[in-house]
Amino acid sequence: MMTVLPAKMIKGEVVVPGDKSISHRAVMFSSLAEGETEITGFLAGADCLSTIACFQKMGIEIKQVDDRVSVKGKGWFGLKEPHNILDVGNSGTTIRLMMGILSTQPFHSVLIGDESIARRPMSRVAGPLSKMGARIDGRQNGEYTPISMRGGGLSGIDFQSSVASAQVKSAILLAGIQAEGTTSVLEPYLSRDHTERMLSSFGVTLDRTENKVMIEGGQSLITPEKIEVPGDISSAAFLMVAATILSGSDLTIKNVGVNPTRSGIVDVLMNMGASIKLENQRIRNGEPVADIHIQSSDLKGIEIGGSLIPRLIDEIPVIAVLAAFAEGETVIRDAAELKVKETNRIETVVTELSKLGADIQATDDGMIIRGTGSLQGAVCQTHGDHRIGMAMAVAGLAARGNTIIEGEECINVSFPGFFNLLKKITIL
Ligand code: S3P
Repeated sequence: MMTVLPAKMIKGEVVVPGDKSISHRAVMFSSLAEGETEITGFLAGADCLSTIACFQKMGIEIKQVDDRVSVKGKGWFGLKEPHNILDVGNSGTTIRLMMGILSTQPFHSVLIGDESIARRPMSRVAGPLSKMGARIDGRQNGEYTPISMRGGGLSGIDFQSSVASAQVKSAILLAGIQAEGTTSVLEPYLSRDHTERMLSSFGVTLDRTENKVMIEGGQSLITPEKIEVPGDISSAAFLMVAATILSGSDLTIKNVGVNPTRSGIVDVLMNMGASIKLENQRIRNGEPVADIHIQSSDLKGIEIGGSLIPRLIDEIPVIAVLAAFAEGETVIRDAAELKVKETNRIETVVTELSKLGADIQATDDGMIIRGTGSLQGAVCQTHGDHRIGMAMAVAGLAARGNTIIEGEECINVSFPGFFNLLKKITIL
């Protein structure tokens, strides 16, 4: 249980932990390349530690101390059949990308995760991978964990995805690296493209046009030797929203990944009238990085949908908090994917923000928030979902009275040290 006190403002200069999506991929691709890779800025949160543990179980030597990781890759077919089940914990990225990789491996493996993973759909990945030739099964006709796999002997496919999901796209592309012929993935909107960018930096050739990626089978990964992971914009988002809604705030978040497939939160803040600047923009390991400077300001409600949704899908819980402090109505649509995240985030956001007195209503594919400009502290639950916990903490900072958050341990999944960092920059 954690008590969040109302804050006057936040001020300072901070860094946030490493990008979760990039940290997972750095460990996975380094394990599959031959030779040693040094990763810095790694997110030592529970999800990425699950990825490390899975590759260690397949015989890869990985040493991790805080945000530094060294991986001794053994080449694509250097993985060993694991003696035991692979536990992905709470991590959807781990299980879905691993399914792509394990589809290429001739051995048997079994994947499980926690209660949340057990409820999340896997056929979106298992379906196309089975079409490529992998043998995959799971509870309820292969939809849910435990998932069992035996891979190898794959043929390329042209896959048209009905969802804009980087996990689906990445799993198929990774399988495609060792499939016969060409594999392509077409998505309705472009999802985050960290896999494509990082594979390129590992010497893999991909063809990209708008929402389509093609890859030729039979390629090897060549380690870039060093990977610097930038700060996670999805973690920075909580601080960006807090600084915007607490008047008098002035915050700089250094070294944040601002890949355009992830930076929808910046567009939303700008469109709502926030004062936000990207400074010192640069490229690191093929990923755009910047320092984000943000000051408090008045906000107005907007409509959020279409191709913007995959660019900010993980930020919607905290965008709902932002909208509660804006003038007028904010409508979020085309976001039915929220229902299959760590929790059903349409349900959990609406339930928890309502407890603080927000005027918020669930719709089939999103939510409608009417800004009231104030919230009242209350007792709320994370439902085991890290981003719900952090969104409620930000709401609590701006609410009248104390907010109690139950089940806050899950925040460690993506943002270890979240409350300590908040404490450092908060002026009560
Ligand atoms: C991720 C992709 C997104 C995102 C998740 C991380 C990734 O999921 O919500 O937090 O690293 O590829 P989907 O691919 O299911 O949209």
